[in-house]
Amino acid sequence: MNTLILGAGGREHAMAWKIAQSDLLSKLFIAPGNAGTAQVGTNLAVNPTDFEAVKSAVIEHKIQLVVVGPEDPLVLGIHDFFLQDDALKNVAVIGPQKYAAQLEGSKEFAKEFMFRHNIPTAAYKSFTVDNVEEGYAFLDSLTAPYVLKADGLAAGKGVLILNDLNDAKTELNDMLTHQKFGAASAKVVIEEFLDGIEMSCFVLTDGDSYVSLPNAKDYKRIGEGDAGLNTGGMGAISPVSFADKVYLDKIEERVIKPTVEGLKKDGIPYKGFIFFGLIKVNNEPMVIEYNCRMGDPETEVVIPRIKSDFLHLLIETGKGNLANQKIELKEESAATVMLVSGGYPEAYEKGKVIQGLEKVEGSIAFHAGTIKKENEILTNGGRVISITSYGDDFKAALKQSYKNIDKICFDGVNFRTDIGFDL
Ligand code: AMP
Ligand code: GLY
Repeated sequence: MNTLILGAGGREHAMAWKIAQSDLLSKLFIAPGNAGTAQVGTNLAVNPTDFEAVKSAVIEHKIQLVVVGPEDPLVLGIHDFFLQDDALKNVAVIGPQKYAAQLEGSKEFAKEFMFRHNIPTAAYKSFTVDNVEEGYAFLDSLTAPYVLKADGLAAGKGVLILNDLNDAKTELNDMLTHQKFGAASAKVVIEEFLDGIEMSCFVLTDGDSYVSLPNAKDYKRIGEGDAGLNTGGMGAISPVSFADKVYLDKIEERVIKPTVEGLKKDGIPYKGFIFFGLIKVNNEPMVIEYNCRMGDPETEVVIPRIKSDFLHLLIETGKGNLANQKIELKEESAATVMLVSGGYPEAYEKGKVIQGLEKVEGSIAFHAGTIKKENEILTNGGRVISITSYGDDFKAALKQSYKNIDKICFDGVNFRTDIGFDL
């Protein structure tokens, strides 16, 4: 089976690394990919949101399966584009159609879905420029901290958590009246603040059945002890040590099953990944967010823990045949630590030579933002390389990652030394 992965990050390298190990694979392509994906497949200079360019690549390379890594092409309707095109309609696309992708693409859509299907989540109300005053009154009725969410996609920056009521009102006005996040904040969801520890669960579904992938916890802040600005993610561990069987059973019964059943009840087809962002409040799981794709860097610990043939699972998802599939996992834990460019998540420079990658031993270097130029590997993004290791527990895995990180260097390299600190 010729397979195309869309995307360019560590998530896509981890998927490519795994798919490349499958006996069912003929040729693997990644668009646009990075220097790491080029080691396990062929990179194509195609932008995943340029659907016509994706179409040309799929036809030229006789692709039979497309795995969509990031959310943007899904929210823009790449799966629908394939279904509506005679030349593409028989190509399997892993990733939901546009309507279902609103689970991630619209906070209000996700909230309405959760309330309709009794899935535990924070109380909320949504507002537009036409009822800003009601938004202020709703804020008055809440206690600090205040949670404001741009309805649409805002590159991970659209959630504000504010301690001061007046700040919250000012931000609400900026989002609605001054389009702080562009069209994404034309609508704002204000919700009750939930206090607890977070983790993420993932399923692969064909819209009827699902298989559960390993769970994970990521570390989003740039600074040690979860301080400072939000990033795409600075590291992750799997499995999550505090998620015992009782808690995982609750997640399955109260969140995962009602979500997949809810999609069915609503007549919403869904072939792809569902990412459940969860928070534990009084020992109960509450949903913070849905994503319609895998997480990054969570995928860099989730995928290495899968023993089964991942491509086989994706093919069966495409066929709507997941009911007959089982997934086998490795016993070991996995941990990943992200090396990032100096300055990230604010302004940073690209094009720094990365040295020492060939010395990495007993860990996997998943490339996130890299590019190969004349036999050198250069930095090409904020998040650069994620070093994943296995261990008997996450601490042993982390120790191994940090040992290898010591061998890698590039100008300005930064990473967190405290992944898993709160567990
Ligand atoms: P989201 O983009 O919805 O995942 O939100 C980003 C982050 O904001 C989450 O990972 C949480 O840490 C935090 N967050 C979102 N909603 C809430 C909430 N209702 N209560 C507390 N924290 C929240
Ligand atoms: N690491 C969080 C995400 O992928 O959204």
